[in-house]
Amino acid sequence: MPTVLITGANRGIGLELARQYAADGWRVLATCRDPDRAADLAGIGGNVETHRLDVDDASSVDALAVDLKGQSIDVLFNNAGVIGKRGASIADVDYDVWARTMATNLFGPVRVAWALRDNVQASTLKVMAFTGSKMGSIGQNTGGNVIYRSSKTALNMAVSCLAQELESKGVTAVVFHPGHVRTDMGGPTAPVTAPESVAGMRKVVAGLVPGDNGTFWNYDGAPLPW
Ligand SMILES: NC(=O)c1ccc[n+]([C@@H]2O[C@H](COP(=O)([O-])OP(=O)(O)OC[C@H]3O[C@@H](n4cnc5c(N)ncnc54)[C@H](OP(=O)(O)O)[C@@H]3O)[C@@H](O)[C@H]2O)c1
Repeated sequence: MPTVLITGANRGIGLELARQYAADGWRVLATCRDPDRAADLAGIGGNVETHRLDVDDASSVDALAVDLKGQSIDVLFNNAGVIGKRGASIADVDYDVWARTMATNLFGPVRVAWALRDNVQASTLKVMAFTGSKMGSIGQNTGGNVIYRSSKTALNMAVSCLAQELESKGVTAVVFHPGHVRTDMGGPTAPVTAPESVAGMRKVVAGLVPGDNGTFWNYDGAPLPW
């Protein structure tokens, strides 16, 4: 069966990704900052291995790459992310929060993707999926939340560059908007459930072809403007 690696797999969308891929018989490399406190993840049945990973920490990413050397990863799901500060306008922005948000939402996923590129290239499917956000779309910007929005816009550009750099290696790199999802980040009244979001993204991943490299998708399979 194929292998998926998921970042931020202890709760929210990442946990549901782990659940659904495991239920489908995949080998799941579920990563999180503190495996000792990931009870929900530990409760998933199937072929699930938990690995410690803080995407902000280069030494943590390097250690994971060493652990996984020589193992193929069909789908690398760069899911971990933070909101930063909700509602931030440029007038009252906190630059330290902004920097930390960029570290997690931009540098983290790029660092993980680059560290594990050989694992993805060695696989059959060769997919890198990134959980971005419609809030990172310049074409659909309605203003506000500059910290979160800009971190996801920057992620879009980084994935677009990565897609070009890895195209000759057969990698298909895509960004997803998972929907407004009922998680700690999305809040209890968000319209989309994690199972719906993840089922949609998994369906898109399953249908990807090399020509989709460097594209931006809604969870339901609709294309999104950068
Ligand atoms: N929910 C939505 O409506 C929505 C909409 C658009 C995009 N997204 C994106 O979807 C992704 C998942 O969101 P979610 O709703 O599932 O959020 P969530 O419930 O807040 O979960 C966030 C996950 O990211 C992990 N994480 C944060 N910083 C990390 C780091 N430095 N290293 C490793 N893991 C880290 C968290 O781990 P800890 O438990 O250790 O904090 C947690 O597992 C995020 O990238 C988010 O921006 C969500």
